[in-house]
Amino acid sequence: MRAVRFAAYGEPAVLTPVELPVPEPGPGQVLVRVAYAGVNFAEVMFRRGQIPVGLPHVPGLEVTGTVERVGADVRGLAAGARVAALTLDGGGYAEYALARADLAIELDGPLDRLSPVLAAAFPCNVPVAWGVVHAAARVLPAETVLITAPAGGVGTAAAQLARSAGAGAVHGVTSSTTKAAYAAGFGYDEVWVGEVPAGRTFDVVLDSVGGDVRQRALELLAPFGRYVVLGDAADAGDQTFAGNQLWGSGASVGGYNLGGLAHQRPDLLGEHLRQAALSVATGAVRIDVTEVPLADVAKVHELLESRRSTGKYVLRVHD
Ligand SMILES: NC(=O)c1ccc[n+]([C@@H]2O[C@H](COP(=O)([O-])OP(=O)(O)OC[C@H]3O[C@@H](n4cnc5c(N)ncnc54)[C@H](OP(=O)(O)O)[C@@H]3O)[C@@H](O)[C@H]2O)c1
Repeated sequence: MRAVRFAAYGEPAVLTPVELPVPEPGPGQVLVRVAYAGVNFAEVMFRRGQIPVGLPHVPGLEVTGTVERVGADVRGLAAGARVAALTLDGGGYAEYALARADLAIELDGPLDRLSPVLAAAFPCNVPVAWGVVHAAARVLPAETVLITAPAGGVGTAAAQLARSAGAGAVHGVTSSTTKAAYAAGFGYDEVWVGEVPAGRTFDVVLDSVGGDVRQRALELLAPFGRYVVLGDAADAGDQTFAGNQLWGSGASVGGYNLGGLAHQRPDLLGEHLRQAALSVATGAVRIDVTEVPLADVAKVHELLESRRSTGKYVLRVHD
């Protein structure tokens, strides 16, 4: 099968087309004939070694397609089923990918209307957006929310879900005026360029970037505010929060991680995946998708890494 992988960490050019054998599904796994695969910022982090992975590595954390074969102990999914799946061990940039059956959802009933492109665009970004809004931060009606990387895959979905949860105001902070204008189309009241104006506070801060916002997290929170860490795109050094600081400020600090949840509470992640799929299928979450051939994935990594990307990028693997 055709796949794209890297054998050493480095620039986008390390992403190399290769021919590999089709993998066999093990117990609890399904083999998916991949129609489309999503591209995620986490795959950039893997490729440059910011998060180490075993080498060589075929990246790709989410796919959609049809089930080709099922492994032992798989119930509820059979060959021919149309699915959207998390592939959290990677493998999505390929014609066939293995997925855990409990993290693959069949696109039937109300999910039948999801186009293949949208079905590849939601499994990573939208469950995270749903999980930070509803499980980690528990956004309440009338609350104010700040989101970093507001024009990206997670950021565009999180703003819409915060709005649906009743947020009174949703703000973003991004790196360019172009991205600020783009993000405005996804439910933001105001998107700042560079940094958050001094003196502004929020009930909820959803932070996938780190850097300035992480250093200022507690001063950005209103009383009983919640700061939720969901990424570290800037890789600009971490921040320690002391118990007595939280006592003094009345703030809370939380986090959300797909991999952690898949390990600890796959049932909960499955529920977030389903809620995300429904949000996209009903139009409650709009995803702006750019479709690119698998062979051009390095160009998408370049866009993501140089902060010139907007919305979501999806690879066309099989038509
Ligand atoms: N917790 C989880 O399980 C989980 C799951 C999925 C994604 N995530 C995280 O959520 C974030 C969004 O993921 P995504 O796939 O939707 O990506 P994305 O937001 O489309 O792209 C990443 C964004 O990060 C921002 N950024 C800040 N500093 C950067 C730097 N030094 N280099 C590159 N980008 C930088 C840029 O936005 P601005 O230019 O607007 O700052 C960039 O557009 C990522 O940090 C990802 O790791 C976490």
